Formats: sequence, structure tokens, C-alpha cells
Amino acid sequence: MARMPDIRNIVILTGAGISAESGIDTFRGAGGLWENHRVEDVATPEAFARDPELVLRFYDMRREAIQAKHPNPAHVALARLDAEWRGGLLIVTQNVDDLHERAGAKRVLHMHGEHLNAWCTACDVRSQWRGPLIADSSGGRPPCPACGACALRPDVVWFGEMPYRLDEIYAALRRADLFVSIGTSGAVYPAAGFVRDARELGARTLELNLERSQGSAWFDESRLGPAGELVPAWVEEVLDARAA
Ligand code: OAD
Repeated sequence: MARMPDIRNIVILTGAGISAESGIDTFRGAGGLWENHRVEDVATPEAFARDPELVLRFYDMRREAIQAKHPNPAHVALARLDAEWRGGLLIVTQNVDDLHERAGAKRVLHMHGEHLNAWCTACDVRSQWRGPLIADSSGGRPPCPACGACALRPDVVWFGEMPYRLDEIYAALRRADLFVSIGTSGAVYPAAGFVRDARELGARTLELNLERSQGSAWFDESRLGPAGELVPAWVEEVLDARAA
């Protein structure tokens, strides 16, 4: 197992728990997102085919809500690590908010898509999108900026769909000396399996979470507590060890 000074390449997986202290509900906690809506009603391609207005309204609400939120000390600490870490680093996030980027992180990969993108199912182009996707009072859905078709959907990976950029993620995992999982329950694959992959490929594994995740046994070390405290302390440790 690599000691800290031997670590060069880091892969960080983040989940809803890192944004919890910014006021964004997690999926599976008390008050979680799915409590008022069954997953199958809002987060599957079948739901969208059955009742597009319900699904669009749901995502419009979420898109609006995240724009009023702010990065917390955990996002800020990862952005600092990204800026100061000279080795390989990839922040793979399952989150569809933009709080990593707003904190200043650059090496971020959104494997479950982004709230602030719309995806045109007619021409396949993704466009930045901040407003609603639902039909306006005249009944028309907004047109795609690229092709003009009224066929935009949220650029969010639904259940039953393939997460984005898995090739890049697995390439980074193969290079990783350290894999760190932050604020994720380990309930949704393939992300939940990254710890096993990383470990089998020889990386040291660390989890920073409020409680033990479902895959906790796969981690060499688990630190339990709020991300807003654990992540800044861990980043400090990593940067200090490098400087030593
Ligand atoms: P979950 O809601 O499943 O898990 C959030 C985790 O964060 C739990 O283990 C909490 O204990 C932990 N947590 C809560 N508050 C925390 C805090 N302040 N600090 C640290 N940890 C905290 O969310 P995810 O694991 O991200 O997928 O869910 C994975 C995927 O399930 C999501 O990306 C989404 C959902 O279905 C798609 O939409 C495709």
C-alpha cells in the first residue's frame, strides 16, 4: 500500500453528501429527494416517455434550487487540492450540481450529467441551460439552440441509462495510487464499485462520510463525520505530507 509521500495520482469520487451542507438534499437520507417522488416517476426514461411534463417540472425545480446554493468548505478544499496538487487528480462526481466548479475545481467529471445542461434528443447537442424546460403558457417547449427542435431533456443520467465517460474514469482508476470516496452511500453502481476496482488495481482507499457506506469494508480507512470538516482536514494533511 502506498504511503502518502509515494502518492502521485488521486481519484476522488463525490456524492450527494458533499453538497448536503450547502442545503441540497441527499437522495437516501431523511428528507431525501426521492421521498416526495418515487424514483420511477421522475428519474427513468420510461417516466419521461409517460409524463414528460411531470419529469421536466421536477428537474426545473431542482435546476432553479441549485442556482441559489453555494459551495461549502468541502468543495472549497477540493478546489484547493486541485489547484495545488501537481500529480494526477480527477474528481469524479455523481452530483449534477455545479458546486465543485463554482468552488474553482477544474479537473471535474460529471458521470451522472449536469442540471445546468439540456440535451437535445433530436440533434444530440448539449447546451448550457439555466431556465425551465417545461412548456410555457402558450404550450410550447423551448427550442434547442443548435437545431431548433423542441426536444430538450435534462442532461441527467436516469436509472437504466449508462453513466458518462466511464472509459476516462477507469483509465484514471488504473493510474490511481489513492482513491477517496466522499459523501456517497455506495448504493448505486457502477460508482459504488469503483472502490473495489481501485483497490484491486493497487490503490490505497479512503472514505470520508457521515456514516459507513454500503461498501465500507472495501476501504483501508473510514473517517466518519461531516464533509465540511473532514475534507478540509484531509486536504491539509495531503498537501502537508507532500511538502514534508
Ligand atoms: P445518497 O443520498 O445515496 O448518499 C449520501 C451519503 O452522504 C450518505 O451515505 C450520507 O450518510 C452521506 N452524508 C450526508 N450528509 C453528509 C455530510 N454532511 N457529510 C458527509 N457525508 C454526508 O447519495 P449518492 O451516494 O450520491 O444517481 O447517490 C448516488 C446516486 O443515486 C446519485 O448520483 C443519483 C441517485 O440515484 C442518479 O441520479 C443517476
